[in-house]
Amino acid sequence: MKVLVIGKGGREHALCWKLGQSPAVTHLFCAPGNPGINRLAEPVALEPCAAAELCDFAAARSVDLTVVGPEEPLALGIVDEFERRGLPIFGPSGAAARLESSKAFAKALMREAGVPTADYAVFDDADAARRYVLTSERPLVVKADGLALGKGVVVCETAGAAVEAIGHIMQRGAFGAAGRRVVIEQRLEGEELSFFALADGARAVKLGSAQDHKPVFDGDRGPNTGGMGAYSPAPHLDGRLEARVMREVVEPTLAAMAARGAPFRGVLYAGLMIRGERLDVLEFNVRFGDPECEALMMRFDGDLALALAAAVKGRLTDEMLRLSPAAAVSVALVSRGYPAGCSRGLPIRGVDDAEQVPEVQVFHAGTAVKDGVLMTDGGRVLVVSARGDNLALAIDRAYQAADMIRFEGMHVRRDIGSRALKQMAGAALEAEQKPQPWRERK
Ligand code: AMP
Ligand code: GLY
Repeated sequence: MKVLVIGKGGREHALCWKLGQSPAVTHLFCAPGNPGINRLAEPVALEPCAAAELCDFAAARSVDLTVVGPEEPLALGIVDEFERRGLPIFGPSGAAARLESSKAFAKALMREAGVPTADYAVFDDADAARRYVLTSERPLVVKADGLALGKGVVVCETAGAAVEAIGHIMQRGAFGAAGRRVVIEQRLEGEELSFFALADGARAVKLGSAQDHKPVFDGDRGPNTGGMGAYSPAPHLDGRLEARVMREVVEPTLAAMAARGAPFRGVLYAGLMIRGERLDVLEFNVRFGDPECEALMMRFDGDLALALAAAVKGRLTDEMLRLSPAAAVSVALVSRGYPAGCSRGLPIRGVDDAEQVPEVQVFHAGTAVKDGVLMTDGGRVLVVSARGDNLALAIDRAYQAADMIRFEGMHVRRDIGSRALKQMAGAALEAEQKPQPWRERK
């Protein structure tokens, strides 16, 4: 099987790493790839949104399966273009990708399908939006409707902050056309987690859970980024809750998409807020998260190429998506200045040593090679990922490896996964202190 992966970040490196392990894969291409990916896959000098050229390439090289990493080409309809030409591709159509590319669409669909989500209103007019926030009695979240690289959401402490966010998004055009319309919703409290399922157009199969760390500094301080690290699984998602997410979120969403004539095929990533028995959807994405994908791929024990190919044919089964019970963690090494501007072109040392740490993979996100030297070339530079029998072990390994890597201005969050460790320790303590049931007392 010849496989083409589209994208150039840590997510696509992790996908190539896992796809390359499949005995069924005879050749792997990646467009455009990066220096880490290029050790595993033949690079193709085409950008992810160059759909027509990518189709020509896939046809000319008889590619059997194309896998799309990022959201932008999906929203622009790359899957429709491949399908028109009879080329197998894993991902949602442009119409199905609206679950991510329009928050107003996703909210309306959830309301219609009875999927639990915060109350909301949609505005095309900034004055009307301002009037709404000034009369609201509860804290709000202001969201640009369209794609904004994960940065179009402002969680507001005060009505003044919401008014400011409306000006920033709708009038000063912080996210361009993506912010012409806003969704304003009730602010929810609780534990966040990301849930991933794969859908083949007819049915969905659960993959697993992860938790992302979006703010740039330890303790969840500072501006949001694309993701500073992730771990998998999320400890507060037990089997019962997982079954509820499938029944109350994934299945009704897919049924509603099919009813609208836009059956969903691809990765459905639900961002969830959990509080006690209450479960709400914060957002949908229609692809793997980055860096959640790196952590998930460290745990993926099946044959990814066969699973994705089966999903394209509408023949996905539960057995095809097997995650190891081990824990995995991924830690992003980022450039000085990220997520605002960032430095580039600085030499990176120590990657070879880091790769020697057992159960560790160093995925490239923003790197380049100049005169044979590995250099920084973006905000997120490398995503060091590790697996362990438990989360503490995975965290130790990831930081042991990350600490071997150096580049000028390198920044790393030191607390990826530590809140989960504390929660698990708390739960263990609680279990220990629970009085023994009457009949077992001696
Ligand atoms: P989104 O891109 O919609 O997931 O939003 C980005 C981040 O904003 C989420 O990961 C949450 O931390 C936060 N967020 C989004 N919606 C809400 C909400 N209704 N209440 C509280 N926080 C939210
Ligand atoms: N890490 C968040 C995302 O990929 O959307």
